[in-house]
Amino acid sequence: MVIIMNMRNWSREDWMVVEKADLDLKELQSWFKRLFGDSDDWSNFLPKEAKSWFWQEVETEYVKASSWKIRQNMLLKIRHTKDVVEAGWEIIRGEKEIDWNMGMVIIACFFHDIGRFQQALLGSFEDWETNYDHGDKGAKLIWQRNWSGFRQLGIDRDGVVEAIRRHNKYKAGTEDIYVKLVRDADKLALLRHMKFLLREVDCTNGGISETVISDYLAGGMVKNENVVTKNDTYLRWLSWENDFNFETTRRLFIKEEVKDWVFSEIGKSDPQAFSRLKKIFLLPMVVVGP
Ligand SMILES: [Fe+2]
Repeated sequence: MVIIMNMRNWSREDWMVVEKADLDLKELQSWFKRLFGDSDDWSNFLPKEAKSWFWQEVETEYVKASSWKIRQNMLLKIRHTKDVVEAGWEIIRGEKEIDWNMGMVIIACFFHDIGRFQQALLGSFEDWETNYDHGDKGAKLIWQRNWSGFRQLGIDRDGVVEAIRRHNKYKAGTEDIYVKLVRDADKLALLRHMKFLLREVDCTNGGISETVISDYLAGGMVKNENVVTKNDTYLRWLSWENDFNFETTRRLFIKEEVKDWVFSEIGKSDPQAFSRLKKIFLLPMVVVGP
């Protein structure tokens, strides 16, 4: 793996941990505790019991990992979890007119990918490739827990379970604010790290598939199965903007210049595709519904 330096908000320790992926269980637990300590603004909304549920799941699966790559994928998902909690927290700070239950926000973001640790053992995070829906599996895992302590904090189990279950579906399919928030936070967190994560993408370089351009211009999300080239992957990630639910998410995405970066990358690797897209984007865009 290419060294992941300068990852946004990642400490030097974080990228060393992920890069080397050689921690034993005890070291991993210490890192996990530092990652989800008590010093963040949102730490008060993450009960000890939630952290211990998460850790139990990591521990159960980490010891079964048969390769370095699988261990690394698990470490990436632990760090991604923190990215999503932080993104969710930032989004709600911009969406002040909504009366958020902070506990629901943090718990839903925290557990959104809990199904990934079992999936990692299958060697891929592609749900369609592994025939494993990590949203459904994660929802089931969390639903089975005893929620008595969480209810006292006003955290609704069914709401959290729904947010986990629906976070990876093509469409939210509901107006529930926590479902919408987790979907936005997850996408924003991944987009922020896109330039690092995409080094790993193994796609034929050059060109953009017609189906991908059509999906994008139709104002929806590009479907996984249509992605062939690296530029298709870029456009697929960019198409996530079409699924944002909150204005704050869009504002952060634009402000952080992810879109500009993607277009410059397409231009570097494939000037022809770039000039084609440039022409398309100068035309009036498809109106995305409210
Ligand atoms: Fe996920």
